[in-house]
Amino acid sequence: MKAVRVHAFGGPQVLTYEEVPVPEPGPGDVLIRVHAAALNPPDWYARIGFANIPEDMRPTGLGLPFTPGSDVSGVVAAVGPEVTRWRVGDEVFGMVRFPELNNGGKGYAEYTTSPASHLARKPASVGHVEAAAVPMAGLTAYQFLFDHIGLGEGPDRTVLVNGAAGGVGHFLVQLAKTRGARVIAVASGRHESFLRGLGVDEFLDYTTQPVPDLVRDVDHVIDTVGGPHGYRFLPTVRPGGTISPVFFGEYHREEAARLGITFVGGQVHSDGGQMAELARLIDDGRLRVSVDSVFALPDAAKAHDRAERGHIQGKIVLRVADE
Ligand SMILES: NC(=O)c1ccc[n+]([C@@H]2O[C@H](COP(=O)([O-])OP(=O)(O)OC[C@H]3O[C@@H](n4cnc5c(N)ncnc54)[C@H](OP(=O)(O)O)[C@@H]3O)[C@@H](O)[C@H]2O)c1
Repeated sequence: MKAVRVHAFGGPQVLTYEEVPVPEPGPGDVLIRVHAAALNPPDWYARIGFANIPEDMRPTGLGLPFTPGSDVSGVVAAVGPEVTRWRVGDEVFGMVRFPELNNGGKGYAEYTTSPASHLARKPASVGHVEAAAVPMAGLTAYQFLFDHIGLGEGPDRTVLVNGAAGGVGHFLVQLAKTRGARVIAVASGRHESFLRGLGVDEFLDYTTQPVPDLVRDVDHVIDTVGGPHGYRFLPTVRPGGTISPVFFGEYHREEAARLGITFVGGQVHSDGGQMAELARLIDDGRLRVSVDSVFALPDAAKAHDRAERGHIQGKIVLRVADE
């Protein structure tokens, strides 16, 4: 089969399209004929050897060569021993073995294996390209809002999402709306009509106005951007409120504690049950998937070039087979 592999850490050009053996599904695993695989930031963090991660938190020991790609949508081609949940021909999608380092998902390929429990049935109302766009970004949004923050039902909660148009952000704003929250989206101006179309209550363009001067008394800030100025959101949060750093950032945690602000969040992990919840919301028309751009599998380097240009609206997807 064909797959994309990284033999040496570096720029998008290190992504090599080549012939590799079809993997065998082990106990509890299925073999998937991949129809589409999504890009996620960890794919390019791994490609550059995690050079963008603070040194004390940087994963070490990633073996070369490796095939990136945790998120896939496809068709079950074979089932390994002990699998009763899936049959050959089932359409499935999921985030495979994340956050494992050396045994993680290998989705940039014509075939890949996945634990049966990391998958759910693909939502019937969308194709494989849209379905592949969901797993990591959708699970991150789901786990931050419902597992970490514990967002309840009702209109008495305000959630501010920074980086609202990106993969994680566009699912965060929609999932928060499913619970009735008031949602403030922060993004560059080009995304305003997109985000209003997803139902946000307020849109703030961070390129034209200093967002922290405009908002007060937010219950939950979810910051998908992070970086050295994360602390600028402290004045926007009410005492007793929360900040959720989705990426690394400088949040002046002592000052936050003095203000009564707590930090909640964590690392996204594979979960087939939550994938089934996301599929149900998609098929009910309550969760929309935005695809920024689609590239053929051999053009994975071009897809990573697109990712590096930033300002992504939704997800970048690799088409591996026809729908
Ligand atoms: N904790 C976890 O388990 C976990 C899981 C998944 C992802 N992540 C991390 O979460 C981050 C976001 O992932 P993603 O897939 O959503 O990335 P993405 O699709 O690239 O989205 C990032 C978005 O942020 C916006 N943005 C950039 N600079 C901004 C700024 N200064 N202020 C506001 N918005 C800004 C971009 O568009 P505009 O600038 O045009 O608005 C873009 O839409 C990544 O760092 C990723 O590693 C963490």
